[in-house]
Amino acid sequence: MRRVLLFGLALVAVLVAVRFSLPTVDARAQPGWLESTVATHVRSWLTPSKYDTMPNPVSCDASALAAARAHWADHCATCHANNGNGQTMLGRGMYPKPPDMRATGTQSQSDGRIYATIRNGVPLTGMPAFGQPTDGDKETWALVCFVRHLPSMTPDEELAMRAMNPKTDADREEERQEAEFLNGGSVP
Ligand code: HEC
Repeated sequence: MRRVLLFGLALVAVLVAVRFSLPTVDARAQPGWLESTVATHVRSWLTPSKYDTMPNPVSCDASALAAARAHWADHCATCHANNGNGQTMLGRGMYPKPPDMRATGTQSQSDGRIYATIRNGVPLTGMPAFGQPTDGDKETWALVCFVRHLPSMTPDEELAMRAMNPKTDADREEERQEAEFLNGGSVP
């Protein structure tokens, strides 16, 4: 009888120890080194190798960059930030978090790999699939140009992008009231 009791107590002690050594459910946590390395490699293995050497069919000139900048500000900046550093409310609260895309982790990938990520997304993360393969995916390839441009983005470009970030009706109403006030209207 005493043995059964001791065994029961030991089992409870082990369960309590396991419970408290596990992380709590909190998406603000930073994934550990091992988890990030394994996830990055698995993602890399599962990306078909045909993407590795795919050349970018879009020439990254001023007009392609301008279109991609607007596209990024509207569809990507909520998570990735206008400058690609991932420091937004959503970005910081995700698990895994969007990486700083100006750094070598992203910039060392081939154009085709970056294209594959934007086209197909990354399952089990917040990264959606954006590809529109029916139109030759020109917009997605132009975004690859923009990812390459991130490390050399100027403060002026970043400022211009703020006007292109998604706005809520409340934001628009606030802007309207400010404009009305500046034009001599009543204080809102
Ligand atoms: C809802 C949030 C969200 C949005 C919107 C979003 N992303 Fe992401 N993105 C992520 C997350 C999270 C990751 C990290 C995925 C991972 O850890 O594998 C990511 C990863 C990436 C990567 C891979 C970076 C690397 O180093 O491997 C690229 C490229 C990328 N996103 C491009 C874009 C583009 C372009 C857009 C807009 C068209 C966009 N993302 C929109 C959340 C988002």
